[in-house]
This record gives sequence, structure tokens and C-alpha cells, in this order.
Amino acid sequence: MTLFRRSLVCATALVSTLVSMPVRAAEPAPEAKGAWLDASQSPERRADAAVTAMTQAEKLQLVFGYYSNEAPWMSNGTKRFEAPAAGLPASAGYVPGVARLGIPAQWETDAGVGVATQGTPKPRLRTALPSGIAIAASWNPGTAFAGGAMIGNEAYLSGFNVQLAGGMNLTREPRNGRNFEYTGEDPLLAGTIAGNTIRGIQSNHVISTMKHFAFNAQETNRNHVDVKIADKAARQSDLLAFQFAYETGDPGSVMCAYNRVNGAYSCESGWLLDEVLKQDWGFKGYVMSDWGGTHSTVAAATAGLDQESGWAFDRSPYFSAALDEAVNNGHVSRTRLDDMARRILWAMFANGLVDHPVRGDQSASIDLADHARITQAAAEDSLVLLKNDGLLPLARSARRILIVGGHADFGVISGGGSSQVYAAGYRQFDEPLGKAVYYPSSPLKGIASRTKATVTYVDGHDAKEAARAARKADIVIVFATQWTAEGLDTPDLNLPGQQDALIGAVAEANRKTVVVLETGGPVVMPWLDKVGAVVEAWYPGTSGGEAIARVLTGEADPSGHLPVTFPASAAQLPRVRIDGDRKLDELDDPHPHTDYDIEGAAVGYKWFDARALKPLFPFGFGLSYTTFSSSGLSATPEGKGLRVSLTVRNTGRSAGSTVTQIYVAPVATLAGWEAPKRLGAYAKTELQAGESTSIALSVDPRLLATFDPASKTWTVKAGAYKVMAGDSADHIIATTTVQLGQQTLDVRGK
Ligand code: BGC
Repeated sequence: MTLFRRSLVCATALVSTLVSMPVRAAEPAPEAKGAWLDASQSPERRADAAVTAMTQAEKLQLVFGYYSNEAPWMSNGTKRFEAPAAGLPASAGYVPGVARLGIPAQWETDAGVGVATQGTPKPRLRTALPSGIAIAASWNPGTAFAGGAMIGNEAYLSGFNVQLAGGMNLTREPRNGRNFEYTGEDPLLAGTIAGNTIRGIQSNHVISTMKHFAFNAQETNRNHVDVKIADKAARQSDLLAFQFAYETGDPGSVMCAYNRVNGAYSCESGWLLDEVLKQDWGFKGYVMSDWGGTHSTVAAATAGLDQESGWAFDRSPYFSAALDEAVNNGHVSRTRLDDMARRILWAMFANGLVDHPVRGDQSASIDLADHARITQAAAEDSLVLLKNDGLLPLARSARRILIVGGHADFGVISGGGSSQVYAAGYRQFDEPLGKAVYYPSSPLKGIASRTKATVTYVDGHDAKEAARAARKADIVIVFATQWTAEGLDTPDLNLPGQQDALIGAVAEANRKTVVVLETGGPVVMPWLDKVGAVVEAWYPGTSGGEAIARVLTGEADPSGHLPVTFPASAAQLPRVRIDGDRKLDELDDPHPHTDYDIEGAAVGYKWFDARALKPLFPFGFGLSYTTFSSSGLSATPEGKGLRVSLTVRNTGRSAGSTVTQIYVAPVATLAGWEAPKRLGAYAKTELQAGESTSIALSVDPRLLATFDPASKTWTVKAGAYKVMAGDSADHIIATTTVQLGQQTLDVRGK
């Protein structure tokens, strides 16, 4: 699917010739009083009872999804697509229910930062959280949960009961255009943050997905690129992240990815869907395809795909009449069709979709003021102070503040694609890679309302004009934006357009320059030595401007830490250029490849550690306006893993939050460890000036182990292990050693 589809508006209705349209939900008949409607029964028993009561046609209806919008290209010589009338306008999808049995339809919406809208000039207007990478930068599971609960509530009140959230592909490629939707490069951090967002969403009788399963780490040729990765490396990296998210969030659904993995499309990979997810981890929910990610009937159903999504994007309606035929002629067993339906029903019962059905559009009752507070708090928790030569918080003595660029007089940028949330008062501005949606939360207005200084603005299009204005200012704040979006990767790690030159020119004119970055992921900073302060604000959501103003003026402490490594240059990456680019491929290879075995499980900081590369900013890095110390680090074996304790203290003069990062490593080099150390545990703690507290954390044994694909076990080898407290992956403050006995864990880490 291309970005193209996002801008298409409803076209003329076409008559479907291949797919019978779903019957509109009517009042449930008396037979709907079956055991499956008994809320005192377990979701398993209810799902069993419902499957037993269903006809084959009804089961088929559950496994086949529609797009809730239309475009002319969705009908062609081989297919006719008509958006069902019962779907919600301009939304991602619709799956009819079984009214006869009281099973509601599934109304699906994107995605991880809020309730999105697709392809209409009149989008629904909702609250947007900071991007996924920002939530990960908070290192705060509580923030992730609160945000998830908030967007799940908006989804429910908008009439949606399935939210296509939980995006968490590890950042193997810092130029990936969708990094902003995901939760960084470390399995523990990415998995627990995404898991908590999922848990929050699902606290609203809304199913959340976890996606894109798996290894969808680039947009370039995403529909076909074949990712090569060995089982062991996969289980110790991206799959471990998904495993943590699954255990934390218990998502009702998993969305399989566009790309191929080791030869098979993700949505046809028996290894990923059946073996890893369902058998090894025990996932009881259903696998839905990404939109356009289903490529077959028998192969997909056999491999473990349970529901074809938004079939308009596929070449054919694979899970409609073709699946009926395959079941009838035995190519797909009736047991398997039952299993597909049972999994969908289980997720619906387990998450309350049947007992607490959505009641259409109730959006007038969304508590927007409360949600603005939640998204603002999340933004404040996720802003990362990368450099500060004393310019921040902004001095009260400043008389003239100049603000440059980034549409900071209007608001803050957001990321593009299917996850796009529109908010009241939004505007679109042209960016080098496309049209970006900006939310009307102006950092300039937020700063101006908190200072007695005169605040002026230049838009930054003319670097000379900006430099002239900078000379007359006491302090300059440059807002630099990088629009990234689904469907395209960034061409390099630089800020787009002329922004690097603009910052250079302004900093040349006035060293008291603060740079606020609003980017989708890592960027390089050729001007870093010349500026006095840098704040990474990511895409900060619908109250982001207010959050930035509070942090810059010192009303709030910047307490975010990087969930990704910022490389010094693309030359440091496992792949200097992204594979699979059709334009660069001389033969226009129909089966493009990329080799993730180059780094294997050594993703992000682990790659940098293993190769002794110095990044621009390391994973875990983030400054504060106050200072912290830690003492008394100790570690003891606990169960099959470790218990770590230490005391943290706020040694500065203002309140702030510290992120405790515990890294673990074998003392002697152990075979099978992908890198010198791994993040073993983390915690975020808010402390008043002078306050201290003791912290106790558990390290999951899988983070001390290596995986053996043959026996499907994790092994912690006997020996001495270093347990390190650090304030980034590059800066260890304290180390202790602990002796561990040999441990064997099953595939679920038990
Ligand atoms: C994206 C998914 C999204 C789906 C439905 C696809 O293009 O990859 O993340 O949920 O569309 O809009």
C-alpha cells in the first residue's frame, strides 16, 4: 500500500461480483441466548460454545475483513471492492458480526497515538499522544499505560472496538520512516512500553493489536523485501521484544507484517505465526494480516493467519469464497476454520467486546480537557535534554527571545501515514518529503505566556534574515522538524531541507542558541558544537507545544532518555544504505533481500558496543535540570534470574525524575551473547530535591541467557556476571558482580 491510498476520498459505489456483502446487523434473535452470552463463563468456554453454534458461512464472515473506505483502484479486472455501509467512515476496517448469535461487528481503527482517520477531507478530530518513540523515551510504563487507556477510551467512544496499535518493530534502521510509531531498539524497553500501551487500550473493552509481526524495520520495498535472520538471533532480539509485549499486554490480536522473513511472507510464515507465536508462546488470540499483507488462501490459513484484513488491498478476497471452497474440498481443515473463528471470538469475549458493545459515535462525551492533560504529561515525560551549556531553563534575565522555524508560532508536527490522528484546529504544511499535519499547540505562545521577554519569530526560510535577527537576541530557539511517514524511509540522517545550514548560520551569529528537534527518530547534528543546548521533543502530540514551553522554562524537568542510539553517521550502521530499493537495484529484483544476520541480535547500542563505535548520543542518554546519584548497588540471584537493588538520590536543587538503567553482562566472554552487555531492568523515579529512595528490580532470566533453537530452551550459563548501573549505555556509574548457577528455562522463559 502506498501513501496514495491515504489521500483518496470515497468514490462511486461499485457492485461486488466476487464477494457477497455482509448482512447488516439486526436485533439478535432469541437463539442468541446461548451459553456464549453467559458472562460468568470463561472466554475459552464462551468461544467454544459460539463456534459450535455457528454455520460455516458465519465463521467465514468473521475471518474476512473489509476496508472502511473506497477508491477506484480497489476495483479492477480481477476484483470489485465496495466499502460496507456498516463500517465507520474513513477508518481502517470492518468485520461483520453475527447478529443471530449476538456477536458484534469489529470496527477497526489505527493506531498507536490515537484515533486516526484515513482518506477524507473531513477527518474525526481527536487527541494525539506523543509518538511511540516518545513514549518509549519516557522509560515510564505508567505513562505508556495512561496514554493507552486514554486513546482506547477515545476509540471506544468513537465506535471502534479494535485498535491497530502496539507498533513495536525494533529500530534496526534509523532511517525507517515508521520509527516514530515504534518503541525503540531494546527488547526489554520496547516490549514493556508497547505492552503497557496495549494494556491501557484494552482496559476499555477494545482489542489492541501488537504489530508488525515481524522484522518490518524498513519501509523501502516493504511489501516484498525478504529479511534473512537466524532463529537464535531473532528470538534474542525482535521476537524477545514481542514476547515481552505479549506477556505484559496480552493483546487480543497480532498483526503480521508486509515483509517476507526467511523466504515466506510474514502472513504465510508458519514459523512466525504457528510455531513461535501460537505454540511456543501460547498466544490465544488471532492473527490479522496487515492491509495488503495476505497473498494466498491455503498457504496463509495453514501457516496461522486467522483473519484477512482490509481485503481491498489484497489482489483477491482470499479468505472469502476461496476459503469456503478450500474448506469444502479439504485443503484447509474444518478444524482450522474453527480455530480461526474461535481465536477471534476468544479475543472478543476476553476483552469485553460482547458484554460491553460499542454504541456508535459517542465522541461528544470524550473528556478532551482531561485527555489534553494526559498527552501533555506524556510529552513532558518524554522530552530528552541532549545538551545544555547552561542555557536552559531559559534565564529570567533574557529580554529578547528569538524563535526560529518549525512553524513554532502555530504548533507541533506529527508523523504521517495510516496512524495519522487529526486534532481540532490542525493545519497542513509542506515539508520536503510531503505534507505534514501540525497540531495547534504553539511552543512560541507557550514560551511567550511564561516570560517577560519580548518574543519574536522568523520562519527560518531565509537563513541570513534569521542570523541577522539572532544577533539582536539574548537567546535564540530554533525549532527543527523532520516529517517522516509510513511508506517512505528518510534518504539520510540529516535534518531535511536547509535546516542544518539554518542552525549553523544562526549559531554562528549567536552562540546562545537552543535547538528543539521534532523528529521521527535519530538525526545527525553537524552544528552540535556551535549551539548551547539541544532538546529532542520527537512528535510531541496535541499538547506538545505547551509541554515544550514548560520544559524550556523550567516548569517541568526534562526526564526523557533516548530509546535509540543516535549514530554519528550512516557509515556506522550495519547497512550503509537500505537494501531493496527498486531504483538502485539494477535488475529490479522481484525478490529483494536484506540480511539482518549482519547484526543479528546486536541491534542499536549492542552493535555500537560490539564494534566499539562512538555514537553521537548513546542509548539511554538524557540530561536533567537537577542531578542524581546512586549508591549501594547490590545483586543477588532470584528465582532463575536476578534481583538488583540500589538507592537513588536527587542531589540537585529542583525536583526531577531519574531513570535507573541496569545493564548485565557475563564477566568472561560467553559464546552466544550478541554484544558486551544488555539492558536488564529499568525504572523511572520522581524525586524532590534532596529526596532519596531505594529501588529493587528483577532481571528476567532471558536477559541473562542465550536461546538454543534445537531444544527451544534458554540457558543461563553458570559463572560470574557484572551488574551495572548506568546513566546511558555508554556511561556506567557502578558495577557489582554476582555468581549465578546454571539455569535452563523453557521457551516461555519459565
Ligand atoms: C499499516 C498498518 C495499519 C493498516 C491499516 C497499513 O498500511 O502498515 O500499520 O494498521 O495499514 O490502516
